[in-house]
Amino acid sequence: MTSLEEIAGKIELCQKCPLYKTRNKPVPGEGPSDARVMLVGEAPGRNEDLTGRPFVGQAGKFLDQLLGLAGLSREEVFIGNVVKCRPPGNRDPLPMEIEACSPWLDMQFQVISPIVVVTLGRFSMRHFQDRFQLAQDSISKVHGRPTRIDTLVWHGWLVPMYHPAAGLYRGEVKEKIVEDWKKFGQFLSSIKTSQTKTQ
Ligand code: URA
Repeated sequence: MTSLEEIAGKIELCQKCPLYKTRNKPVPGEGPSDARVMLVGEAPGRNEDLTGRPFVGQAGKFLDQLLGLAGLSREEVFIGNVVKCRPPGNRDPLPMEIEACSPWLDMQFQVISPIVVVTLGRFSMRHFQDRFQLAQDSISKVHGRPTRIDTLVWHGWLVPMYHPAAGLYRGEVKEKIVEDWKKFGQFLSSIKTSQTKTQ
């Protein structure tokens, strides 16, 4: 099977949408290929574009705190994005950019085969709702709520979260996000316990 490094190498050369012309560095994502938890954001911003690393700006600092609340460290999770190259001026990615870039995410997901996928924001949530033919519920309705997925190709949990950037300027959203991540930590402990029990 392909490795995450090989996928990153192909992303580096990708010209399937015009974003490669305006970006500095592609941001393939980072983390161990045996990560139990995979986080998927939207698209790189300015700092990510300059460094080639996901979530290293303000939203990333908040994400680090949220991971801590759930008892996780950045080193043990995989962090990636739906779109690997920065849309100019941080605009929303276009449908054709998402479609062109999604196969990379699908390949990374196949390699990692995580136990839990945490989607950060609505673009990432939509991607997995589409993949697993789930109802297109809005983030305000389903945030923080784990959904069990059992298909022929994957058994795991999907946990839609608000994008961390949404909490940076709105206090009431920040409170919800913090609450969701605390509960997520409890959820992770509960699935660890039940897995140990059945082994
Ligand atoms: N926002 C995202 O969705 N992804 C990043 O990598 C950084 C900010």
